[in-house]
Amino acid sequence: MKTQMKNTILPLTIGICFCAWLAINGFKNINQGGDKKWVAPDAEKTVKNPVKADDANIAAGKVLYTKHCKSCHGTGGKGDGPKAAELETSCGDFTTNDTQKQTDGELHYKIKKGKDDMPSFEKKIPDDEEIWTLVNYMRTFKAK
Ligand code: HEC
Repeated sequence: MKTQMKNTILPLTIGICFCAWLAINGFKNINQGGDKKWVAPDAEKTVKNPVKADDANIAAGKVLYTKHCKSCHGTGGKGDGPKAAELETSCGDFTTNDTQKQTDGELHYKIKKGKDDMPSFEKKIPDDEEIWTLVNYMRTFKAK
């Protein structure tokens, strides 16, 4: 009788663990990358940009952008950099309303965190002011 119990409990436990694992990973997929639209959390959207976009700041933004972003996003932010063709995901187009209508906080979050082919710059650019500087520079791509 005892061995019979063991024989049922073990596969049952493994089965339950496997189902839990499946469920957790399924949810993860829905939350990140599973859907096409990339949306920053609400709390991030309202974070204020502490860095003023004056001429010196835009010039600094251009240097950072050229070093870290241009290879994919292209000189004019249209997503046509030389590396873009090798990626699975489109780099988007920073000149469009789709990108420009997003708040500074939202763009700041996306640059820090990354998603799929978009790298996370949290570690590569540890100075948060530089991330905001990049947000300011991205605003120069707004269609005039
Ligand atoms: C290796 C290529 C690559 C590099 C380098 C790169 N990006 Fe991206 N970026 C992407 C891709 C691909 C996406 C689209 C991600 C998605 O929507 O799944 C993206 C998306 C974004 C978005 C979101 C745009 C939107 O409309 O939601 C922002 C903001 C962004 N990148 C900023 C930057 C900045 C700033 C840098 C440099 C610090 C940079 N990226 C460097 C590939 C790259």
